[in-house]
Order: sequence, then C-alpha cells, then structure tokens
Amino acid sequence: MPLVNTVDMFKKAYEGGYAIGAFNVNNMEIIQGITEAAKEVNAPLILQVSAGARKYANHTYLMKLIEAAMIETDLPIAVHLDHGDSFELCKSCIDGGFTSVMIDGSHLPFEENIALTKQVVEYAHAHGVTVEGELGRLAGVEDDIKVSAEDSCYTKPEEVEEFVSRTGVDSLAIAIGTSHGAFKFTGEAKLRFDILEEVGKRLPGFPIVLHGASSVIPEYVDTINKFGGSMPGAKGVPEEMLRKAASMAVCKINIDSDLRLAMTATVRKVFSESPAEFDPRKYLGPAREEIKKLVKNKIVNVLGCDGKA
Ligand code: G3H
Ligand code: 13P
Ligand code: ZN
Repeated sequence: MPLVNTVDMFKKAYEGGYAIGAFNVNNMEIIQGITEAAKEVNAPLILQVSAGARKYANHTYLMKLIEAAMIETDLPIAVHLDHGDSFELCKSCIDGGFTSVMIDGSHLPFEENIALTKQVVEYAHAHGVTVEGELGRLAGVEDDIKVSAEDSCYTKPEEVEEFVSRTGVDSLAIAIGTSHGAFKFTGEAKLRFDILEEVGKRLPGFPIVLHGASSVIPEYVDTINKFGGSMPGAKGVPEEMLRKAASMAVCKINIDSDLRLAMTATVRKVFSESPAEFDPRKYLGPAREEIKKLVKNKIVNVLGCDGKA
C-alpha cells in the first residue's frame, strides 16, 4: 500500500471513538520498532518527523527507511512533518514525498497564524497532502526552543471555527494543559477537558490533535535513575486521560518522549549489566524490542486503533 494522507484515518478514528498514534522517528531502530508493533496489531500509523530529526537523519534516509517499513507492513502509513515553522520547510517536505504536514503558527498573532497556515494549506492540498494547524501554545521543549509555563496558553474555543474555516486545515492541535518533554506536571496531572469538549461542539466531526501526550512511563524513568541517569520528578499524562481524549474529538495523539525513554532506559540497562559491550546491535536491538513493546501497548491499551488498518 502506498503512503496515505490523514483524511481517511481521521474520519474513521472520529467515528470510531479512537485515536491514531503519531510517533516521532529519528532512525532505523525506532522506525522498525514502531512499524513492527503496528503490523502485529494491524493498526494505521502516523510516522512524524521534526525539523531536527530531518536534519539529524537526512530526508532521503528517513523516506527510504519508511518506504521499507511500508513494503514490510502493508499498513496505511502517513509521513507527517511535526511542528513545521515555515512555508518553505512545509513545501520542501511536500515536494519530498511527505503526505501530511503541520504548520505551527501557534506563537504568531491570530491573523498571522491564519495567513501562514492558509498559504501552506493551498500548496499542500494542490499536492494531495493534509495539513495540521495549531491554536494555543504548549509549554516544554521542541527542537531546543523552550516555552516556559508562563508563555504557554490554552486554546480559546471561540477562535477555532474562524481559524478552521479561513485556513482550510484538515486537523487542529489544541493546548489543554499537556506539554512537550518528560516533565509535564509538578503536582497532580490536570487537563482542561472542558476546552476539548467546547472545541468538539464548535467543530462537529473535525479531528483534534493532542501534542505532548507521552505518559512518561514510570518504569523507564526508574530504570534510567537506577542505572546512572537523573530524572527526578519526571511525569507525564496518565493513560486514562489519553483514553478519554481519544473517545472525544482527539484523533491524533503525539508520542515522542516515551520512545526516547524506552530506548535510553534499555541502553543504560545493557551497559550497566555488560560494561564491556561494544557491538551496537547488542544495545540497539534490545532498544528496538522495547520500543515495539511500548508501541503495541499504546495502540491496544491507550489509542484503541488496533485492528483498524
Ligand atoms: O514536539 C517535539 C518532538 O518531541 C520533537 O522533538 O524537535 O527535539 O526532534 P525534536
Ligand atoms: P511528548 O514530548 O509528550 O512525547 O510530545 C511529543 C509531541 O507532541 C511531538 O509533536
Ligand atoms: Zn508537539
């Protein structure tokens, strides 16, 4: 099956009350772990690439690795640009075969966000590519840009209809209290489900995206802390909150930090138990297996998109 855009997968996810996992990819082992998991449980997938990942791994290498996964799995897979920050970057990804892009104008004034998003939508739609926009601002770190909790802001539901109708976006990321990275909450986890509900009422049938949705799995944090790392206070979004979001208008749930934690915890454990190990396959292989286990669990127990490919 060729790569797909997100139209069909979001329509089915909205109607079925589940979400598609959008997993960030940087290298072969991550791509293999994610796609092997999805194949075993027959799930549609979004593989997303940040500007930093594209710089790290190279566009062509990533596309060819994803092409290999497509051949191996025969699943509906969308390749998506995560947090595109300019028309030029989005255009370059579209010209290079991505089937979906995010244009993140969330830091811009409303009118400028609309103008930039609309420009990307016009080019993307002319090429059969879907577009995710963003309203509201998440705290946390992306590509070395740190947004403090004070500079973050919840999405204003009264803006969403105008933004969607004037830009023509296919999905909308909103800010309801999640943040990027491994330190999402200092106290109890709280999400503004009232905002999600209001956005859902104002945009019936329209797919909503949740960024910063890693659960920061405690077992991985414990392993990292046990084997020489230091991540005190790391905390993510509880799985039951993600299940609730997926049953509402959220059709795409973004996960990167949990993949990083799974990989890092596994590599630290291998080196701690076998300090003389120097064959990369002996630590990247187990890391790939752990990613596969993690993604399978997300698909079956959190997202609910198993069997939906
Ligand atoms: O939202 C951001 C993702 O976690 C990607 O992170 O820009 O460091 O690759 P990155
Ligand atoms: P996490 O840091 O919670 O994994 O969020 C990833 C994300 O939103 C990518 O766009
Ligand atoms: Zn994000």
